[in-house]
Amino acid sequence: GRVLSVASECVPLLKTGGLADVVGALPAALAAEGWQMRVLMPAYRSLRGRAEGWAEVFREPDLFGGEGRVLAGEVAGNAMLLLDAPHLYDRDGGPYSGPGGDWTDNAQRFAALSWVAARIAREGLADGWRPDLLHAHDWQGGFAPAYLAYGPPTDVKSVITVHNIAFQGWAPASMLGALRLPYEEFHAEALEYFGGLSSLKAGLVTADAITTVSPTYAAELMRPEFGMGLQGVIAARADRVSGILNGVDTAVWSPEAEERPYALRSLKRKAESRAALCTAFTLDVPGPLAIVVSRLTDQKGIDLIPSVLPDFIAAGGGLAVLGSGDPALEGAMRALEMRFPGRVGVRIGYDEGLSHLMFAGADAVLVPSRFEPCGLTQMYGLRYGTLPVVAAVGGLADTVITANPAGLAAGVATGITFHPTDAAAFGQALRQLLALYADPVQWGQVQRNAMKHPVGWESSAAAYAALYARLAG
Ligand code: ADP
Ligand code: GLC
Repeated sequence: GRVLSVASECVPLLKTGGLADVVGALPAALAAEGWQMRVLMPAYRSLRGRAEGWAEVFREPDLFGGEGRVLAGEVAGNAMLLLDAPHLYDRDGGPYSGPGGDWTDNAQRFAALSWVAARIAREGLADGWRPDLLHAHDWQGGFAPAYLAYGPPTDVKSVITVHNIAFQGWAPASMLGALRLPYEEFHAEALEYFGGLSSLKAGLVTADAITTVSPTYAAELMRPEFGMGLQGVIAARADRVSGILNGVDTAVWSPEAEERPYALRSLKRKAESRAALCTAFTLDVPGPLAIVVSRLTDQKGIDLIPSVLPDFIAAGGGLAVLGSGDPALEGAMRALEMRFPGRVGVRIGYDEGLSHLMFAGADAVLVPSRFEPCGLTQMYGLRYGTLPVVAAVGGLADTVITANPAGLAAGVATGITFHPTDAAAFGQALRQLLALYADPVQWGQVQRNAMKHPVGWESSAAAYAALYARLAG
């Protein structure tokens, strides 16, 4: 079968978070299951050069104030479709915001992407390709299932995947007509959302299936603490909701592929990476060396680190941080570096290469998220024997088995989980980490369990394939 995937990010073209990794990994994962996938995303300014010489396979003359052309090409083995619409995407800045904050026309920008996706699903491309299924990701693709559902009947089915419910694609009700949505669908069971519009809700109420990126998050989304206003919408369609865990690219994220390679059988050689990591951050840490590689936002619980860190440092621990985001959190991290020279190192920015060294060299990776749909860095940690210390929410709860006495006795523990996401529980988890580290035999056992834990795409790809097959008949 054939699937049109529609998203705002895809590696290696553009990434602000795990969404891009997952969108970029799905085509190869699904190809192994017999599904051919093409990915539609905007031709942002940085990508226009890339698409030069690509074949035009679709044209929309009236795309919310200008023309849109879809160009087809291949990037990193993936069949990409770039939507070139200069009036919407050819500008300096990020995919969602510019120097002055969020782009004020984001509703049109991503409605346009969704509009083109729905048209392609219905009519096919000039090269004869037509999908059996439309797979939309997050709020940016949310209107695609809606345009498909509200247009003339079609046999193309749709799926929407929620990667993060915190972003809902809000727009005022007055934009209904401008966004080419039917007035008669502006009611609580369909498009209306607290008096306005939400592209995510539109996708959730019209898609044939809803998925999210972990089983625990699928259940959490139906509860007010996590659903962020959409819990009722999702719960009402519970029979169409499933949680399918993300995988990671085990060829890219592999201790054997690092500059200083090591493996399960040569774990001792991890020490070489640790030394290199200490040099890179000018650290000298007698106890466990922890890392954080993350967007610095409220979601990630970064604000808890200053309260739990002093005790961890006093007990011999150290921390290396790589991330960027909220200026207050960036400042808080820098303050820790000043306060604990030689024990805390901080890099503000985005650096994929450095992140590899960090996972290879560290003893533990901290992920104290308030909510986490799936999370990728705890899985990198497992793969590298870099023990994840995680809040027991969403995909973190589904991927890490905690090293309590029972988990240790059963020989299944792969890291440390804590609950709730607060400084008391996080601090307790770090004390557990210190105790485990002080017992080299048990520490080694947990490292080996972690490295054996499957984090690839195989079983998740099979789950998506089963869903697609069920929908496409
Ligand atoms: P989210 O999508 O919520 O940010 P995920 O854990 O799903 O969280 O994905 C984050 C991805 O971005 C991971 O691949 C992680 O390694 C990467 N990442 C985050 N911040 C940085 C950074 N500063 N430098 C390099 N990689 C980063
Ligand atoms: C979102 C979530 C993250 C998830 C990623 C990919 O960014 O915050 O938990 O891993 O999407 O699905």
